Amino acid sequence: MPSLEGKVAIVTGAGRGIGREHALALAQAGAQVVVNDLGGSLAGEGTDATPAQSVVNEIVAGGGEAVASYDDVSDFAAAEHMIQRAVDRYGRLDILVNNAGILRDRMLVNMTEDEWDAVIAVHLKGHFAPTRHAAAHWRERAKAGETLRARVINTSSPSGIFGNVGQANYGAAKAAIAGFTVIAAQELQRYGVTVNCIAPNARTRMTEETFGDLPPPEEGVFDPLDPANMSPLVVALAADEAQGITGQCFFVWGGSINVLRPWDAGELFAKDERWDADELLTQLKERFSEGVAPDGMVAMMSKAGGQSMRVG
Ligand SMILES: NC(=O)c1ccc[n+]([C@@H]2O[C@H](COP(=O)([O-])OP(=O)(O)OC[C@H]3O[C@@H](n4cnc5c(N)ncnc54)[C@H](O)[C@@H]3O)[C@@H](O)[C@H]2O)c1
Repeated sequence: MPSLEGKVAIVTGAGRGIGREHALALAQAGAQVVVNDLGGSLAGEGTDATPAQSVVNEIVAGGGEAVASYDDVSDFAAAEHMIQRAVDRYGRLDILVNNAGILRDRMLVNMTEDEWDAVIAVHLKGHFAPTRHAAAHWRERAKAGETLRARVINTSSPSGIFGNVGQANYGAAKAAIAGFTVIAAQELQRYGVTVNCIAPNARTRMTEETFGDLPPPEEGVFDPLDPANMSPLVVALAADEAQGITGQCFFVWGGSINVLRPWDAGELFAKDERWDADELLTQLKERFSEGVAPDGMVAMMSKAGGQSMRVG
């Protein structure tokens, strides 16, 4: 395992599921960890200090160093407080893993304003706010002459990049997080910060809500849905040696990690003057004689080396 000795990490939503595994893995690699978790329900209601504190206890019991944060990542001032907590306690911040999330699934036609706003707030603003304050901290250090090797690791989803029915709010936020990753990578490169994102797959309360009970395989058989499968990538990207890898989105399923292609140039309709709509329509029908539509999440996940939990 690469050594993260002397580095300070924040993992948001680290009281449960995938974030908990990231926090444990980063601590095992030697990082001091701020374990952030608001402790709410899957729908983002209520608060509870227990999940974050119990992960801190686990890290400390294993000989590591950690402190809890109960800040709400979707609150701009609370996100600043969380970054400040790392700086006050450990003197610096090196690694920010944005992972906190909630779910309020509904078909678009029935979705309420609250269901839309809450999910966009926790995921999208919940990525922007901590990254914004961490970036200010890193800019200050870079301007003072320090050579940084800092990291932001975001959490997208197959739902956003491939498109999952019933998750217009969640998928839109997750697609936006992939876009945010590319822009933040370009903006923060000058300070020595890399920004990447993960599209994970794991058995947690979140997937059990969507896909039902997902029993683990029998003892001794590799479990592709173990949330701990997501964390070696976070540790690898956090290592100094990964300084050249930025702006990428990694799909992870068990032992398969697929570095996804971003939106890429495709079918080109070109002429040296403005198109006439009639002529363009004829060309579109000719070029897409069978029609054209998204392949859907199940097909795309299989192409990327995984499978949908719906059929798995
Ligand atoms: N499990 C999967 O297969 C899967 C697939 C794709 C994406 N993801 C993403 O991975 C991340 C982790 O999900 P998980 O499956 O471990 O779910 P989880 O519900 O087990 O963990 C999410 C944690 O985030 C915390 N949280 C929620 N809102 C918060 C807020 N405003 N501030 C601070 N903490 C908050 C929750 O209390 C919870 O402990 C999420 O971003 C999720 O969307 C998961």
